[in-house]
Amino acid sequence: MFSAEAKKQIPDILKRYPIKASAMLPLLNLAQEEEGWVSEDSMREIAKLLDLTPPKVYEVATFYTMLNLKPIGRFHLQVCKSLMCALVGSDTLIQWIDQELGIKPGETTEDGMFTLSTVECLASCGTAPMMQVNDDYFERLTHEKVRQVFEDLRTTGKCSLATGPFRWPEPEVVVLMAAFEKVLLKNMDMPGYSGSLKDYEKAGGYQAIRTVLGKMKPDDLIDIVKKSGLRGRGGAGFPTGVKWGFIPKDHPGPKYLCCNADESEPGTFKDRQLMERDPHQVLEGIILCCYAIGAHTSYIYIRGEFILGAKLLEKALAEACEAGYLGKNILGSGFDLDVYVHRGAGAYICGEETALLESLEGKRGKPRTKPPFPAISGLYGKPTVINNVETLANIPYIVNRGPEWFMSIGSSPKSPGTRVFSLSGHIAQPGNYEVPMGITMREMLEDYGGGMRDGKKLKAIIPGGASAAFLTEEHLDVKLDFEGIAEAGSMLGSGAITFMNEDTCMVWAAERLLEFFHHESCGKCTPCREGSMWLLQILHRMEAGHGKHEDLDLLLRLCGNIEGQTVCAFGDAEIAPITSTLKHFRHEYEAHIRDGCCPFRGQPAELVGAGTSHGH
Ligand SMILES: Cc1cc2nc3c(=O)[nH]c(=O)nc-3n(C[C@H](O)[C@H](O)[C@H](O)COP(=O)(O)O)c2cc1C
Ligand code: SF4
Ligand code: FES
Repeated sequence: MFSAEAKKQIPDILKRYPIKASAMLPLLNLAQEEEGWVSEDSMREIAKLLDLTPPKVYEVATFYTMLNLKPIGRFHLQVCKSLMCALVGSDTLIQWIDQELGIKPGETTEDGMFTLSTVECLASCGTAPMMQVNDDYFERLTHEKVRQVFEDLRTTGKCSLATGPFRWPEPEVVVLMAAFEKVLLKNMDMPGYSGSLKDYEKAGGYQAIRTVLGKMKPDDLIDIVKKSGLRGRGGAGFPTGVKWGFIPKDHPGPKYLCCNADESEPGTFKDRQLMERDPHQVLEGIILCCYAIGAHTSYIYIRGEFILGAKLLEKALAEACEAGYLGKNILGSGFDLDVYVHRGAGAYICGEETALLESLEGKRGKPRTKPPFPAISGLYGKPTVINNVETLANIPYIVNRGPEWFMSIGSSPKSPGTRVFSLSGHIAQPGNYEVPMGITMREMLEDYGGGMRDGKKLKAIIPGGASAAFLTEEHLDVKLDFEGIAEAGSMLGSGAITFMNEDTCMVWAAERLLEFFHHESCGKCTPCREGSMWLLQILHRMEAGHGKHEDLDLLLRLCGNIEGQTVCAFGDAEIAPITSTLKHFRHEYEAHIRDGCCPFRGQPAELVGAGTSHGH
C-alpha cells in the first residue's frame, strides 16, 4: 500500500502519459521501493488508480524479473551469472557469498538481512565479477571486498564501495593507439568534468540546438543526418536519417521519440557510461531528433536496474528545463518538448523496439509483428522513432561539425563515425573504448584491451554482444565495422566484444548463453519459447558428459526450426552461439561425447533440468 509520501508522487507520474496504463511500471517500481516487494494489496491499489482489473496488473507484474512478488531480505544481492561475468568469476563470487552468509541462490539469511539471487546481464560485464545490492552496483569484487560490503551493510546499512557514475577503464589506463580524436567520450576525459549542465555548456554543449531550433527546417536536419551516414548503434545499424525520414510529415496527431536506454545485451555497457557521465549530450540529441520529426514528447526507456542512471538523467532533465532547453518555446523557437525517464523492471526483450513500446504502454514486453513499423504505428499507434542512446548522442556533433566531418571518420561511406566498444572477457584491460570504425579486431585487442590476460592464447571472440555468432583468432584482422564483421559471418550488433582464452569450453560458453536466452524468451512464439528449452537441455546433457552423437544433428535441426520462424530477431540470436560454436569448434562437442565428460573440467557433472523461462 502506498504511503502518504508516495501518494503525493502519483499525480505527477500519471501526468507524463496520455493513457493511464503507461504508469504501470512506474507505480509497480514505486510500490517495490516502498515495501521491498509488490504485495497483492499494492497491485489492487494500482489497478484502481489505472482503471484496470487486479489480474491485469498481476499479469504485467509477473513478466518483469525485478519485481519481487513475495517479501525478501532487507538487502537483495543480485549476482550476474551471464557468460561475460562467468568468464571472470561470477560462480566464485556466489561461493564467497555462501561462505560469508551461508546462503545459496534463492535463499535468505535467517535474520532476514540478505537474499541472494542470480540474474542475467546487468551491463557491468567489463567490471565483473559484480553484484547489485538494492539500488547499488558493486563491481570488480574480490573476497575481501565482499566481506567489507556485508560488514558495512550490517552495521551502517550502506557501503562506500558502491560504484558512482560509471566509467571504465579509469582515465589513467594507457592505450597504445590514441592518435585520433574521441567524440562521445571526449568531454568526460577533461579533468573535473562532472556531466553537469554548466560543464557541458563549457565544452560547447547546447550549441547545436541554437543552430537548429527555429532556424533550420526539420527536413534540412534530416538531410544532414542522412548525409552524415550515421547508422544506429543499438544493434541493427539502420541509417538514422532514413529512419527519421519515414515519419509521415502530414500526420495530424502526436508523434514520439523513444530513446532506447535498455542496454541489456550481454557484453554491452557503453550506454550506461554515456548516460551517467555525460547525460546532456544524449538530451541534446533527443531534442534535435524530436525537432526533426515533429515530436513534442519523448520517453527515455531505461532498464530498471539503472537506478543511478535514471536519477542522473532526471537531474539533467531538471537542469535543461530550468535553462529553457526543454519545455515550452525552447530558446524562443516556438518548439515545445517534454522528455520523461521511464524505468523498465527487468526484461531483456524490452530492448527490442516494439517490446519496448508495449512495455511503455503498460503491458508485458512482447514484440509486435512488423509491419506496421513504428514509424507508421508506434507508441499509442502514433508515428514513432526509436533510437539508441549512442546514436542520439552523435547528433549534436554532426550538426556542429557538419556531415562531411562525420563521414570522414571511420569506414566511409558505409560505416562512418566512431563507435564506443565495450570489451570484456579474458583480457588485460576490459572497458569502453571509443575508436573510429574500421580498426581491426587485433588493434582492438592488443592496443586497447591490452592483449590476453596471464599470457594465455585467444580462442574465441563474440564481436557484437550475446546475439552475435562466435569468431576465432583467424578473424583478428577483420575490420570492426558493419560490413567487415558481417563478411566474417557474424555481426557488429551492440558493439560489445568478448574475448575468450584457450581454457574456455565452447560447449559451456554456448550453454551459458542459452541459459540467458531461455530465461529471457518472452514466450510469444513457440519455436523460440520451446526451442530454447530443448536446446538448453541438450547442452546441459552434453556438458554433463551424457551427450549422444545424434545430439549434434539434433541441435542443428532445432536451430533450423527456429531460424526465421519467429516474431522478432531474438529467435535468430539465440541459435547463433550454437551454430557458430558447432561450425568453429565441433571437435569440442565431439570430445564431450567421446570422453563422457567436459574435457575442460574432466569429470561428469550432475544433470540439471532446464527449468522454465519467465513470462509465459
Ligand atoms: C532481442 C533484441 C534486443 C535488443 N536490445 C536493444 C537494447 O538493449 N538497446 C538498443 O538500443 N537496441 C536494442 N535492440 C535493437 C532495437 O530493436 C532497435 O533496433 C534500436 O533501438 C534502434 O535504434 P538505433 O537505430 O539507434 O540502433 C534490440 C533488438 C532485439 C531484437
Ligand atoms: S522470438 Fe522469442 S523473444 Fe521474440 S517474440 Fe518470439 S518468443 Fe518473444
Ligand atoms: S553484467 Fe554480467 S554479463 Fe553483463
